[in-house]
This record gives sequence, structure tokens and C-alpha cells, in this order.
Amino acid sequence: MKNNTNNNDKSPSKVKDLFYKYSLGAKPFLKWVGGKSQLLPIFNELYPLELKQKKIKHYYEPFVGGGAVFFDIAQNYEIDSAYLYDINDELILVYKVIQRKVEKLIEFLERFSKQYLKLNQEKRKVYFYDLRHNFNQQRFNIDYNKFSENWIPRAAQIIFLNKTCFNGLFRFNSKGEFNAPIGKYIRPKILDETNLLNVSKLLEIAQIEKADFTEVRNNIKNSSFVYFDPPYRPISKTSNFTSYSKLNFKDDEQIKLATLFNELNEMNILQMLSNSDPTNIDPQDNFFDLIYKGYNIIRVPAKRMINSDATKRKAINEILITNYDVVNYAKRNQRQYNRQSA
Ligand SMILES: C[S@@+](CC[C@H](N)C(=O)[O-])C[C@H]1O[C@@H](n2cnc3c(N)ncnc32)[C@H](O)[C@@H]1O
Repeated sequence: MKNNTNNNDKSPSKVKDLFYKYSLGAKPFLKWVGGKSQLLPIFNELYPLELKQKKIKHYYEPFVGGGAVFFDIAQNYEIDSAYLYDINDELILVYKVIQRKVEKLIEFLERFSKQYLKLNQEKRKVYFYDLRHNFNQQRFNIDYNKFSENWIPRAAQIIFLNKTCFNGLFRFNSKGEFNAPIGKYIRPKILDETNLLNVSKLLEIAQIEKADFTEVRNNIKNSSFVYFDPPYRPISKTSNFTSYSKLNFKDDEQIKLATLFNELNEMNILQMLSNSDPTNIDPQDNFFDLIYKGYNIIRVPAKRMINSDATKRKAINEILITNYDVVNYAKRNQRQYNRQSA
């Protein structure tokens, strides 16, 4: 799967490989704030034509998060390689463990799952907070720059906490401690073995790094497509959507990203970028229209899934920016879009 598939080669193993690759059904293995699963049908209409024409060889996702878009592209289009970056060291640790040691990870998760699911609510609380405490203590013993065996139980702890904590929040305080409380799930799916194996298979084509998004500039190759999904620009002063990691992503970072977008555009790299649309709250706030002036800007309705209060999960527009032609999409969807957002 690492190499480009020769479509003329119809030997049984090649056919099986193709079938395997495209029928995996791999999906994000963590709940992640800002996950893009619900937007994939729209994204599929907006990906560059070159991707569908198999002219794109390399895919870059510098804010990979839960990876919904990578899983979609890697399973539906024939790319040779993927470059996945994120600043969150715990997240990258899990990706690398799934890539290299998925069977051992499954063993740990199987143990956690068996132990946890048989407990009553009170005992589950003790188990959760003990594991969370241990996870927080262990961070001082982890070298995030060098893969080691102790990454495997840590990756299992991260998946366990993500699946059992309140609302799947992957939240850390300023000291770097995971501090989300226990969630109210009756039978949380702590281990999804099939999915982890499928994800691991897909990650064979991926180079995964803990890196700032600007890293893409140093590694970019010709015939590439880049999808940027930076932390949302807060849509109100009180909203906290940018707190994925200990670092904040402020307007100067958004502008730095726009500069990178311009640079890659000069290099003829195809790019798509998404963010929250500030005109939802303040129709005069044309921040993105200004910093991405001259590119295609599309607004699509999206439901924010992170709000625990279902009544507050209203449709908030997502803003999408591309440096390639999406005129046909815009024409086809304009009427429908106007109706939905009215
Ligand atoms: C909106 S989320 C991405 C969501 C992802 N598309 C998905 O479907 O789950 C933004 C991600 O950017 C990462 N991030 C924040 N600042 C970063 C930076 N300076 N460089 C790279 N990644 C960063 C966060 O850790 C987070 O995972």
C-alpha cells in the first residue's frame, strides 16, 4: 500500500490490496474537538479535481486532530503518502503507537475495558480517577521525542480517558494535567479492535510528527494537497474552542497561517482551509475575508458538537477557503445554502 498502485496490474494480490484499502471503513479513534466527520460529504465536493483524477501524490494535514479528513482521503483516493502533524504531544504519541504497536495497544485496552465495564458506578469513579492521576504523574517519565515501550500503556490510557470522560473532552489545565471529569456512559466502547487495526493499516503511508503547522513549509513536495484545520477563532469572547493544548491560537497565529497559505500558493500547492465563520456573531467581522482576499471563500452550515447543552448546538457556519476553482460547487449549492442559512 506504500507505493503507487499500478491499475493495469490485475494480479490477485493487487486486486485484494485495492479491495482491502478501499473497504476498511477506518474512522477517528478519538473524540476530538472540531472533528470534521459531519462535513465530509461537503468536503468531498470541494476537494480539488486533481485528487479525483489521481494527480495528487501526497496529502498534508498540519492540524490533524482526530484525523477525519485523512481517513476519508486515504480510503477514497489513491495517494502515495500522507504527512500528519499536530502540536499536541499526547495525540501524536497515540498515532505513533497505533502505527507501530497496535496489537500491544489492543492488549492494554482489552484489560482496561474488561476491568472497567464490570464495575458499578462508584467503583468506576475510583478506577477513572486513579487512572487519571497515574496518567498525570507519568507525564514526567515520558520522552515525547523518542518512541519507547512506555508509550504503549500511555496511549491506552489516553484512549481510555477519552472514551470515558465527560463529553470526550481532551482537556488539560495550565500545569499540563488532564482534568476532564468522568462521563456518564453505561457501556463506553473503550476498545474498538477492528477500527484500530484498520487505522494502523492506513497509517502505513503516513509520516506523523509532533510539529508546529509551519513545518509543512520545510517538507512540501510537488503534486500535493494540503488541508488546514486550525483551532477555531473564537466566535464569541466567552467561547473556548481554541483550548486543545496548553497553547493558544490567537489572531496573529491565524495571520501567520494565511502567510503560509500565500507562500504555498506561490508554489502551486493545492490547499483547502476551514475555520469558524465570525460573521455568524458579528456580520461586520470580515477577518477571514481580509486575510484570504483573492481566494475562494465558501460558507457552509455546520453543527458544533462539543457543547454539552443540546439546545446550544445550533448551526454555526464553517468558512472554507480554497486556492483552486470551486465555481461549479458554489453555483450548484448557492440556492440550497441560502435556504439553509436563512
Ligand atoms: C480543529 S482541530 C483539528 C480537528 C481535525 N480536523 C479533526 O477532524 O479532528 C485543531 C488541531 O490543531 C492543533 N494545533 C493547535 N495549534 C497548533 C500549531 N501551532 N501547530 C500544529 N497544530 C496545532 C490542536 O492540537 C488540534 O488538534
